[in-house]
Amino acid sequence: YLEFSVLSVCTDLFVWEKFSNQNKFQRKRYHHGTFPDNFLWGVSSSAYQVEGGWNADGKGPSTWDTFSQKPGNILNNDNGDVACDSYNKFNEDLYMLRALRVKSYRFSLSWSRIFPNGNKTSVNNLGVDYYNRIINGLLAHNITPMVTLHHWDLPQALQDIGGWQNLNMIDIFNEFCDFCFDTFGDRVKFWMTFNQPHTIAWVGYGLGLMPPSIKKPGEAPYMIAHNLLKAHAKVYHTYDEKYKKLQGGLVSITLNADWIEPKDADVPREIAAADRALQFQLGWFAHPIFKNGDYPDAMKWQVGNKSELQGHENSRIPTFTAEEKAYIQGTADFFSINTYTSRVAHHTTMKILPASYETDQDLQLKNPEDSQSTAVKELRAAAWGLRRLLNWIKEEYGDPDIYISENGIATDTKTTVDDTDRFFFYKTYIDEALKAHNLDGVKLKGYTAWSLMDSFEWLSGYTVGFGLHHVDFKNPIRPRTPKRSALYYYQVIRDNGFPLPEEEKLIYGHFRNGFAWSVSTSSYQVIFSEKQSSVHDERK
Ligand code: BGC
Repeated sequence: YLEFSVLSVCTDLFVWEKFSNQNKFQRKRYHHGTFPDNFLWGVSSSAYQVEGGWNADGKGPSTWDTFSQKPGNILNNDNGDVACDSYNKFNEDLYMLRALRVKSYRFSLSWSRIFPNGNKTSVNNLGVDYYNRIINGLLAHNITPMVTLHHWDLPQALQDIGGWQNLNMIDIFNEFCDFCFDTFGDRVKFWMTFNQPHTIAWVGYGLGLMPPSIKKPGEAPYMIAHNLLKAHAKVYHTYDEKYKKLQGGLVSITLNADWIEPKDADVPREIAAADRALQFQLGWFAHPIFKNGDYPDAMKWQVGNKSELQGHENSRIPTFTAEEKAYIQGTADFFSINTYTSRVAHHTTMKILPASYETDQDLQLKNPEDSQSTAVKELRAAAWGLRRLLNWIKEEYGDPDIYISENGIATDTKTTVDDTDRFFFYKTYIDEALKAHNLDGVKLKGYTAWSLMDSFEWLSGYTVGFGLHHVDFKNPIRPRTPKRSALYYYQVIRDNGFPLPEEEKLIYGHFRNGFAWSVSTSSYQVIFSEKQSSVHDERK
């Protein structure tokens, strides 16, 4: 184990040196340039956050329906019963997408709208029709659908049989995805199995803040992540074996990460702590899928050690068999990353008990000093972290094609159309993405803003909004209004980045060849006679 961690600190040092050069020279500079012509500009949403129609046309309840309908769980007792009413207003959504001139729209499927009880036997054709309308509407306007198969809203009936704790869920999820590939895959070429499995495992089963509200931070998250990885791999193979040749699409999983900066980049122990934080968050899922089918060494070492000290016979982090590793390794055709903020890590020896995924990491996280507050306290804006995160992914996972599948900022409900903070956020974050692409050679293929419009923001209900469009949730017809940032994003898409403005281009240039460069003098000013010299000396 020790050997592993020493080795990994060495590679980290190399990467960190690269980062500190960026830091010195480019961090504060604005970079002008453009992305390649086929860059996939898009916006994103998710089913429970926008659709509403929670029991319309035969839809079954999801865990989020059950959870948010229960008073006390969500701020202001808000829920997603109606949300943006996209179930009835997809034409309005399409209008906004067209006005933005986006190339892609990332949305998710509500599993219980398609299979009300989670199983294929319950298929609901009206639900299927709804997604066909979306997909066909997008394609009619040259907008590429990017489909998330599962964005947290598990059919309640499946939670009732134990949810992701139940190993049968691997086959049940596979059946659902297989149906979706079969039904929509002639037109959908971008698939993401899970949105942020980290959130499902940690927030749902560790912190217990989201459904299924289980608070077992020492063991459950590791078990759940294990099952989610297996479920993801199974779905990937299903597509690969049954559909890939015929449909030619791509399959991945959407992971989330904050950029983690070490407290002191000159102290190896702090670099190791920052790297460990990234491994625990992103590497937990990315390492098995993009590297070797197994968890990062830093995680196995930390959790293994702590488990031993806690008197467990086996590590709390489960192990994969050789066969399972081979099955999981390589199950993604591109890297899909959601990112919002940056943190600073400081090595700290944490207490042994009670066991927790958090204390297993032996570090503390703080906000970077040069970050700006936003309407969501935990999500401070620090654009420079995006370039570093993209570089870290490039170095760590063998230079994959990367799509930023979510990136955005919350504003409060008082901010309607004048959203200067969002405007600034996109300007600075996208510019860092451009630096990563143009200066560092990161294979960034697309950028997807979160979000198309204000929507149900999980535990915060409707008290904050991430939208490029404002939605009036007090008005039953849910009117949508473009914010200033929508116009700005439209311009960025139109310009494909930030080309050097014409008026600035004129400042730079060359003279023609043969231009006569010279210097000049005049005789009186340079010929110094002896007589003058003696006068000069006398004066002195
Ligand atoms: C989730 C979105 C959410 C956003 C902002 C992401 O983690 O995928 O559903 O709205 O963060 O909190």
